Amino acid sequence: MNILHIVGARPNFMKAAPVLRALGNRASVRQMVVHSGQHYDANMSDVFFAQLGIPAPDFNLAVGSSTHAQQTAEIMVRLEPVLLERKPDLVVVYGDVNSTVAATLVCSKLLVPVAHVEAGLRSFDRTMPEEINRLVTDQLASLLFTPSVDGDENLLREGIAAPRIHCVGNVMIDTLIRLLPRAEQTPRNGLPQRYALVTLHRPSNVDDGEVLKQILTALQHAGGDLAIVFPVHPRTRQRIQQYGIDVKGLLLKDPLGYLEFLALQQRATVVITDSGGIQEETTYLKVPCLTLRENTERPVTVTMGTNTLVGNNMERLQSEVAKVLSGGGKQGRVPPLWDGRAGDRIAEVIVRNQA
Ligand code: UD1
Repeated sequence: MNILHIVGARPNFMKAAPVLRALGNRASVRQMVVHSGQHYDANMSDVFFAQLGIPAPDFNLAVGSSTHAQQTAEIMVRLEPVLLERKPDLVVVYGDVNSTVAATLVCSKLLVPVAHVEAGLRSFDRTMPEEINRLVTDQLASLLFTPSVDGDENLLREGIAAPRIHCVGNVMIDTLIRLLPRAEQTPRNGLPQRYALVTLHRPSNVDDGEVLKQILTALQHAGGDLAIVFPVHPRTRQRIQQYGIDVKGLLLKDPLGYLEFLALQQRATVVITDSGGIQEETTYLKVPCLTLRENTERPVTVTMGTNTLVGNNMERLQSEVAKVLSGGGKQGRVPPLWDGRAGDRIAEVIVRNQA
């Protein structure tokens, strides 16, 4: 059985790694990796392949950055000949980035079955590009692997046949569990004792100068001696420069590798983010997470985990930080099946379906 995996952007890599490993143990499976090139800087891509032990891509489509339509179309145009030449029996796509939906569309027209890892998540907010990507991908995929039962419920409500849906748990947490012992060995290197770890890259938070300034100002006044450690996404770095925003008092860093970032999360007093995956990682690590979004496609992190949605209410952000500092941060539990074995369950279903 020939399986082709599509990855393209940073959050795909930690999801693909456990699936590649689990399928790699199956004698009947041959695997290929296609990188769309949606993310291309060494610190947004190469470092993850190295640290996560992902084999070098067989193809790199090198699409780079552009508008949504251009990027999605370019991935489609460049992927089609690869699929025609390699004729995979199954294509595996991950998460909700433009590479995910682009690949799924191409496969559907070529009648190549698609397996979607991290299916069923919904923010119910169609102003988010990722929500569009999730909806389209899930309608077209043949096999849908969900991280939690809310995903199953969403898919069933959208008319997807139950036998195609498999609740397998969270593949990102597989990677976290495997690499946490290594992350714990990374040196603290003058890291402040108490700090908030911040990440910010959603267009709704960073593309408008006023909104971005308001957030960064609130962080500068987050709470007494709490340091702010802020690895800056390239999109956000560009906006800070473009709008000439003052970042005094914030410890800005370049994007970090997986191990370095995981170590920072585990040691943080609180994490402040608008990322999807970080809401899940903090829930597993039991570190309080304040999410700068009005909604989340990962509600289990709020209902069971350590996540709190603060939207763009900066007073709320400051009061939630104060709560954490006075010992009142959310405790939380780890959701079912976030146990390090999601990749194995996916491999099992894929091989069984092919037999
Ligand atoms: C993409 C995903 C988002 C995911 C995020 C993680 C979509 C629609 N968005 O958003 O879901 O949470 O990745 O990072 O797929 N850039 C670089 N170097 C790179 C990559 C990007 O400098 O290696 C800059 C470019 O100026 C680019 C901008 O970052 O225009 C945004 O990149 P893009 O891939 O369009 O979206 P992200 O914001 O990274």
